[in-house]
Amino acid sequence: MLEVSGIRKTFVQGRVATEVIRGISLTVADGEFVSLIGPSGCGKTTLLKIVAGLLPPTAGQVALDGKPSLAPSRQKAFVFQHFNLFPWRTVLDNAAYALELDGVDTRTRAERARGLLQGVGLAGFEQYYPAQISGGMRQRVGLVRALLLNPRVLLMDEPFGALDALTREVLQGELLRLLAATPRVSTLFVTHSIDEAIYLSDRILVFSMRPASVVREFAVPLRKPRYEYNWRRDPTVVGLREEIWNLLREAAQHGT
Ligand SMILES: Nc1ncnc2c1ncn2[C@@H]1O[C@H](COP(=O)(O)OP(=O)(O)OP(=O)(O)O)[C@@H](O)[C@H]1O
Ligand SMILES: [Mg+2]
Repeated sequence: MLEVSGIRKTFVQGRVATEVIRGISLTVADGEFVSLIGPSGCGKTTLLKIVAGLLPPTAGQVALDGKPSLAPSRQKAFVFQHFNLFPWRTVLDNAAYALELDGVDTRTRAERARGLLQGVGLAGFEQYYPAQISGGMRQRVGLVRALLLNPRVLLMDEPFGALDALTREVLQGELLRLLAATPRVSTLFVTHSIDEAIYLSDRILVFSMRPASVVREFAVPLRKPRYEYNWRRDPTVVGLREEIWNLLREAAQHGT
């Protein structure tokens, strides 16, 4: 289980101090999917970077399975909005990067990467380079690469934000399928889309404007797997969407 407790972050630039995060605590259980949603600039990416170990907090602790985890680690995979694939490596070699680091032999590497790439519709593109595939395809490679790290924690910062609505929806379904096959992974997902958060999450945390704190937490009571039915028409979705929307509007109005 991932435990984030009492995280605070203040950035100091010269003589100006900006308090960005004020006391955030949250947990993500094994196999749980938690989304963070909040006004632009409130500190979501900052929190994710702290959890990933890419940025030190001013105060607070991050723990994984009960052990402090404030440094970067193979157990915590990060998927960014614009995926940073290696341009000189093929799709297959990008996807299998973690296995290569582990010294896994070429054949096993290719087999495992091909399996997951096929699952996200990339069969036949293994030998392409990032510049030769579309944005949606790049995000898929990034996702496969992160999962092949065999992480305990998957941190995703608006991974589908740059995609068109249809591609985005297809990728959301693929993500849910991939995660269903990796039951121990705890996912912390940042998004601006309320519907995306509802579709993907077990719980949604709504953040206040900067300095960020958790305003409210929602459990999403929809049955799984959600790609098998029209979840948008579920009556609970309408109420949930409106409640979150109202909170976000309020938070944005009280912005600094
Ligand atoms: N390295 C840094 N140095 C100084 N200030 C920073 C740094 N990184 C982020 N900030 C500040 O922290 C605040 C929150 O930024 P952050 O990127 O976490 O917001 P966000 O919630 O992810 O926003 P968005 O939804 O637009 O992506 C901003 O005011 C930003 O200027
Ligand atoms: Mg951000």
